[in-house]
Amino acid sequence: MKLKYQLNAAFTTLLLVIMAVTGFVIYSLILDMLVEDEQRQLKQKGEILVNILNQQYDRQNVQAFSDFLETQDLQLFLYDREYNRVLYTSLPRQAAQGFVKSNDIADAKETLWTYNNNKYVTSRILFYPRESGMELIMLTPMTDLQAVQQSFVQRLLIVFLVGGVLAIVLSYYLTNKLVTPLTQLRMELKKIEKRQFDAIQPIQATGEIKDLEKSVHDMADALHKYMTSQQAFFQNASHELKTPLMSIQGYAEGIRDHIFDEAETEKGLDVMVTEVKRLKKIINEMILLAKLDSEPSFYEPTRVDVKQLLEQAIDRTKPIAHEKGIELHLNADTDINIYVDEEKFLRALLNLMTNCIRHGAGHVHMTVKKALDHTEIVIEDDGDGIPENIVHQIFQRFVKGKSGETGLGLSIARAIIEQSGGRITAGQSEFGGAKFTVLISLRTEKQEKKHR
Ligand SMILES: Nc1ncnc2c1ncn2[C@@H]1O[C@H](COP(=O)(O)OP(=O)(O)OP(=O)(O)O)[C@@H](O)[C@H]1O
Ligand SMILES: [Mg+2]
Repeated sequence: MKLKYQLNAAFTTLLLVIMAVTGFVIYSLILDMLVEDEQRQLKQKGEILVNILNQQYDRQNVQAFSDFLETQDLQLFLYDREYNRVLYTSLPRQAAQGFVKSNDIADAKETLWTYNNNKYVTSRILFYPRESGMELIMLTPMTDLQAVQQSFVQRLLIVFLVGGVLAIVLSYYLTNKLVTPLTQLRMELKKIEKRQFDAIQPIQATGEIKDLEKSVHDMADALHKYMTSQQAFFQNASHELKTPLMSIQGYAEGIRDHIFDEAETEKGLDVMVTEVKRLKKIINEMILLAKLDSEPSFYEPTRVDVKQLLEQAIDRTKPIAHEKGIELHLNADTDINIYVDEEKFLRALLNLMTNCIRHGAGHVHMTVKKALDHTEIVIEDDGDGIPENIVHQIFQRFVKGKSGETGLGLSIARAIIEQSGGRITAGQSEFGGAKFTVLISLRTEKQEKKHR
């Protein structure tokens, strides 16, 4: 069932329940209120009549009494307690006597009298002095009050009916207003499902639905970016894999068809071995990147001394540095610890250092500084610096300069550093070449304390 109908059904049911309860309560209270009010009015009228009769008429002159009461359009009778008789009545005499007989006249508290299966509201007013035993008994038939009750209930029903219809129409209008943006949002989500990112439109909404719409748009943007980067990644990856494969295929076919002489065959085999090694390297790096992205358990942090880690990196890169005539300089205090996966962080540092060694002119500098909330590791060289055209995408996969290799080294370094709770930036060194700054926040060191 559509949300719009569910909301309306719930509201209509609630409205019906409220109206039924209110109607029942009013119906049962209204008669009591009418009886009470009638009694009060009868008493007021009766007291006025008794006053007039007391002051202006001679009690012994019952005829004068009767004449006066005759002029009043009321249902009443004069009763003499002493002689237990009805002195005057505006009702048929038989009815008045019937009243006296059918009801306990001594019970002054009984306000509802019954006669001939009909109920009457009564009010009894004594003449002064009380000893005279004369009382005026005023009556109103219950049927009169019930007629008022019926007419009141009929009006109430009309009010409920009109009010109910108006409320339901209003509820339809409001739920429509509420549900329409949700329906529109569903259409926008369908576009995301069909990957029509450019067709996504803003919708008219307020409050939480507007927030939801913003989240949907953010999600679509992120998904779009992710898909574009994945596409670029696959294009670059297939290109990178295709080039060595084509070269291997060319040489392999040449050797098979005996096109090459001995020297060329030898050279072809060398190229094939180099290309296979390169392919293996690319594939291993792609697997590493995929694992870093998707397997948090792949990363096992421990407490690591930065200086010792850089010394290990220097030991490993010394041969290639020596080969290129590059001097390595380390400036680091002892006892600076960070909480990282040692093997992978070393891999990140090696990637940065091999880049600097490859592109440096004569010196590579490594500096470690400890600040209040982070540890800073700087690796820089004195070469030509990062080429202008790739400086902004340098950490993206397969982005490389003219003298580059596979273009995965820096993206691997960034993935490892980000997994370590840190970040990396690239810039211009004061030595003239490239400068890589790695910041590892102390938050990870606190985590280490928690961990232990
Ligand atoms: N220290 C540096 N000086 C100048 N350019 C650099 C430096 N480090 C990196 N670059 C540029 O950034 C590019 C990307 O570097 P990255 O390490 O990601 O890939 P790569 O070195 O080409 O290949 P590999 O995946 O083998 O590391 C390099 O190709 C190079 O053009
Ligand atoms: Mg590199």
